Amino acid sequence: MASPPRSPGQPNRPCSEDGIPVVDLAVLVNGDARERSQAVRHLGRACQDWGFFMVTNHGVPEDLQSAMMDACKELFGLPPEQKAEFMDAGPMDPVRVGTGFNSAVDGARYWRDYVKMFAHPELHCPAKPDGLRGVAAEYAARTRGLLLELTAAISESLGLPAGRIAERLDLGSCFQILVGNHYPPCAAGPDDDDGAVGLPAHSDHGLLTLLFQNGVDGLQVKHDGRWLLAKPIPGSFFVIAGDQLEIVSNGRYKGVLHRALVDRAQARMSCVSLLGPCLDAVVKPVPELAVPPLGLEFRGVKYRDYMEHQQSNKLNEKGALDLVRVQRHILTDTNRLEL
Ligand code: OGA
Ligand code: NI
Repeated sequence: MASPPRSPGQPNRPCSEDGIPVVDLAVLVNGDARERSQAVRHLGRACQDWGFFMVTNHGVPEDLQSAMMDACKELFGLPPEQKAEFMDAGPMDPVRVGTGFNSAVDGARYWRDYVKMFAHPELHCPAKPDGLRGVAAEYAARTRGLLLELTAAISESLGLPAGRIAERLDLGSCFQILVGNHYPPCAAGPDDDDGAVGLPAHSDHGLLTLLFQNGVDGLQVKHDGRWLLAKPIPGSFFVIAGDQLEIVSNGRYKGVLHRALVDRAQARMSCVSLLGPCLDAVVKPVPELAVPPLGLEFRGVKYRDYMEHQQSNKLNEKGALDLVRVQRHILTDTNRLEL
């Protein structure tokens, strides 16, 4: 695989042409002490400045990625009666097939089909297509390993021991979900009035999300107030920081806003592997990251409740986080200032 381009004058800050940070997992895992500490700092800046990066040399075989994408594609192509039992499922049901985000509350119609499968602590999976269970089990295990490695390095990047976030969120019993997304082509694009949107702006409810796509671009991330189309380095994964990372890091790292656009001519597909805390963990900021005099920015919330709340309501940017944000008010002589 080609090594990522390095911007001139910044040899230690690898990034794509658009400036999206690129993290080389091989260096994080096997680099010597100096390379590792540089890579950990780079990862920390990627989380702080972007909440979004690409990971290369990640060790998940390309043919496993393709097999996962193909299995999802086959599932979307099955006759409806073979998926019917999963189509009325609610947000906390372990297998769910549907269109839009949560059609019970969407209000708008999103141009998207999805399959969601809880994958850890236990894999749940439709019986058809035949090969899906085997592929999903392998894909879940490999991507979970990768996400846990990234979590350990992210913990270090916050100046904490590598295992601190894992211990806080009880990641030994982590929650993981696999999602297949299919966005059919739509001639009316997002710039047209009434044009189709795949998924509206949101942040993810978990800790970290890993995503790859079928060669058709459409994922946009908000960076410095602007939407940027994410173009992957071949063979890399996108990594998206989620709300639980924002909570546990006491707001040092933020869940990044992103959305999916629909292509005018080609079907777009993406495969998502999302890592979250143990569903029963009460997620609170790591106390070492309190900044005096403000202290902690978030109240504790059980991840299961957070996820259910986010998944049961209309997708509304980062609205779900307000549920747990500590509201502060400073009373001044003339007005009430909200921080
Ligand atoms: C998601 C998501 C984006 C995409 O599934 O949460 O943001 O490109 N998907 O499919
Ligand atoms: Ni998302």
